Amino acid sequence: MFGDEERKEVNEVLETGILMRYGFDGARKGRWKAKELEEAINNKFGSKHAQLVCNGTAALTTALATLGIGYGDEVIMPSFTFVASFEAVLSVGAVPVLVDIDDTLTLSPDAVRDAITDKTKCVMPVHMCGSMADMEALQAICKEHKLLLIEDACQSIGASYKGKYLGTIGDAGAFSFDFVKTMTCAEGGVVMTNNADVYTKSDGYSDHGHDHKGVDRGADLHPFIGYNYRISELHAAVGLAQIKKLDKFLEIQKRNHAALKVMLSDVPGVSFRRIPDPQGDSCTFLSWFLPSEEDARAVVSELKAKNILAGNFYWFDNNWHYIRKWDHLKQSITLNALHPQLKQTVLHHANKNFAASDSVMSRCISTLINLSWTEQQLKEKGQALAAAIKTVMVKEAV
Ligand SMILES: Cc1ncc(COP(=O)(O)O)c(C=O)c1O
Repeated sequence: MFGDEERKEVNEVLETGILMRYGFDGARKGRWKAKELEEAINNKFGSKHAQLVCNGTAALTTALATLGIGYGDEVIMPSFTFVASFEAVLSVGAVPVLVDIDDTLTLSPDAVRDAITDKTKCVMPVHMCGSMADMEALQAICKEHKLLLIEDACQSIGASYKGKYLGTIGDAGAFSFDFVKTMTCAEGGVVMTNNADVYTKSDGYSDHGHDHKGVDRGADLHPFIGYNYRISELHAAVGLAQIKKLDKFLEIQKRNHAALKVMLSDVPGVSFRRIPDPQGDSCTFLSWFLPSEEDARAVVSELKAKNILAGNFYWFDNNWHYIRKWDHLKQSITLNALHPQLKQTVLHHANKNFAASDSVMSRCISTLINLSWTEQQLKEKGQALAAAIKTVMVKEAV
C-alpha cells in the first residue's frame, strides 16, 4: 500500500540530491533517512541497535560475519526456508546443516539437538510465513551448548514470541524489506541486535569496513575487511513511510486471517499449522494441512481447475523454499570453487533423509493473506476455497 507518504519521503531525498546514506553532511540539509529508519526500527521492535543494509540476504550475511561465524563452523538451519538462508551461510564460508522442521513449519528442536557436533557454532531458526519457531526450546538448546542464535525473521516482520518481537530475541536477527514483505523499501534489510559490538561491526562490515568515525570518508580507517551492502537513502525513505503504516498492515492481516480461518475450520480433513505463541502470529499466511499428500495434490488440482489457485502455495513443489527442489544445493553447483572439504560437507547435509519434513510439507498449503481484500472478496475467496476442499474430501471419502 503506497501513497503520498512514500512520495513525500522520497522527494525529500531527491530535493537534496544526496542519495547515499553516509557523508555529504552539509548538502543533505539534515536529511538522514537511513538513520531515521534505524531509529524507528529500534523504537518499534525494541532492539537496542539496528543496521540497515541492501537486502535480507545481506542482513543475514552481516549477522553471521559479525558474530564471527566462518570457515569450518556449522550453522543449523531448517529444510523449509528461502534459498537466501543457506546462501548467507555459504557466503561466510560456513556449513549449512539443514535439519527437519515440524508442524510449526520451523526448526524441530529435537532435530537441532540431534545435529549438534563439536563444529556447531550457531542455530538459525527461520520464522517462516509470518509465524514463529519454538524459541524457548531453541534458546534452551543454545544456552546448554553455548551456541549463537541468529533469527531469520525476514518473513515475519511484526510477529512476536511471548511479548518480544521476532528478530530481537537471539544474538542477532534479520528482516527483509523486499517487495513482497509486510513492509517494504523495494529492496532492503536490517540487522537487529542488543550487542553493541555486533552493531559496530555490522556498520563497518556493510560499508567496506569503514569505521565511520570522522566526517571525511576518505580519512576513515578500516579496522577489518568489509563489503558493500549499503542501503540507499531512496530505499530507506520508502521504508520510513512504510514503518509508520506497519501497525495498520498487521491489523488488517490479523483480521483477514481470523475470518479465513473460521471459514476453513469446519472443512473436513483440514487442520492448521501449530503456532507456539498464537497471539504473536503476524498472519501473513494461513497455513493448513490435509490428511495426506494425495489429498493435498488433489486439492491443488481442484483449485487450479476452478481457477482459484493464485495466492495458495504448495511449497512441496516450489523451487525456492524447500529442500526437495534445491538441486543446485544438492549437487553443490557454484560458479567458483568451494574448498573441497566444505563442498563435501555441503553435499552430505543437503542429501540427508528429510522424511519427517516431507511428511509435513507434502500435506501443507499456505494461503497468502492479502491487505487489499474487501470484506466481500474475502468472503467469496474463503467460500470458494472451502468448497473446493470439501469437493475433494467428499470424493476421497466415497
Ligand atoms: C526466509 C527468508 N530469508 C531471507 C530472505 C532474503 O531477503 P531478500 O530478498 O531481501 O534478500 C527472504 C526473502 O524472501 C526470506 O524469505
